[in-house]
Amino acid sequence: MLNRLSGFVLVLALSASGGVVWSQALPRSAEQPPPADRDQIWRSIFARPQPRPADALETKRQALGALLFFDKRLSRDNDRSCATCHQPDNGYSDGEPRARGRDGTPLTRNTPHLFNLADATSFYWDGREPTLEQQARVPITTDNELAAGMETAAARLSADGELRARFAEAFPGETELSEMSILDALAAFERSLVSPETRFDAWVRGDADALDETELLGFRIFVGKGGCVSCHGGWRMTDDSFHDVGLPLNDPGRSAVPGGVAGIAAFKTPGLRQVSKTAPYMHDGSLATLDAVVDHYAGNLIRRPSLSPNVVRDLDLDDGERAALVAFLKTL
Ligand code: HEC
Ligand code: HEC
Repeated sequence: MLNRLSGFVLVLALSASGGVVWSQALPRSAEQPPPADRDQIWRSIFARPQPRPADALETKRQALGALLFFDKRLSRDNDRSCATCHQPDNGYSDGEPRARGRDGTPLTRNTPHLFNLADATSFYWDGREPTLEQQARVPITTDNELAAGMETAAARLSADGELRARFAEAFPGETELSEMSILDALAAFERSLVSPETRFDAWVRGDADALDETELLGFRIFVGKGGCVSCHGGWRMTDDSFHDVGLPLNDPGRSAVPGGVAGIAAFKTPGLRQVSKTAPYMHDGSLATLDAVVDHYAGNLIRRPSLSPNVVRDLDLDDGERAALVAFLKTL
């Protein structure tokens, strides 16, 4: 009960900084509101924003970026593309614990999904790249990923008259197909990748029957004693921040990049939309299923001083509660 209440108040404070003033309506000392009111508050916290319509130019850039995302000319040997690892059918990830490099060996980390990144504030599990444009340069120039290099990529694409015409339309005023416009187009496409609406969104919009009883129990654990919402809050279900959630230490994570804290192997909170499609999980792909993720949070945490204070210690879930939490995650 105490956990449930403190998690609840924490989220009210977070959403207050995002412009919602529920915390004023319900100060920290308030009695817990009745369930129906509580659901209204959660609905406001998980509500999707109005879609932002793209203007004509942005639409052209998105369409061009969609082509480039699948274009193997961005790889040195013309044999792979962004979509080799970020596969649309796998929620823009690849089903592998860790991504496969050009030489067939695994890279160091799991391929993340690419949903709802338009509002993300940093990229990669350690957040080392500040924009989608800067991120897109990395795979094109990294030896064990695509490795064409920006100059070669631009030269190859320029040699394609039809593509050159599309660039000219999407980037009016530019005299030649530039490295920057390749990155801009890829980023425009990625910003358009919004996770599809699900039954959870129907529940958020007010359809009380959109989730069954088990899924609703899972939701109550997610926002209640599980404490999940303190990091996976908001419609994208991420706080855009970095935490140590008590996995085995195998990677310095954010501690190795500017902005990180020495000694704290923290990773970016992934958004959980479409999470049933993006197994295996975590930065190292070490948890094969959602059941394994729930077992991690409820019993398998590694205790160390850097473990995030927001992770609920000694989370006790019985088999039914575990199954309910997994069922809820599958509605996202
Ligand atoms: C070899 C597989 C592979 C290829 C090819 C690849 N990626 Fe990735 N991508 C990854 C992995 C692995 C990560 C996470 C790496 C890390 O965090 O250090 C990642 C991370 C990202 C992220 C960060 C997502 C987030 O939530 O922070 C974006 C965006 C992205 N890739 C876009 C692209 C684009 C665009 C291309 C093509 C130009 C591309 N990727 C090519 C494997 C790949
Ligand atoms: C302290 C913040 C925090 C809390 C609390 C938290 N998470 Fe996470 N979650 C994270 C971070 C950070 C990661 C990535 C960790 C890593 O890879 O090292 C993550 C990863 C996940 C993933 C894997 C997603 C993917 O794409 O790989 C799932 C699923 C998940 N959490 C669900 C939950 C559930 C369910 C709860 C509640 C029982 C919970 N989380 C509580 C921060 C948190």
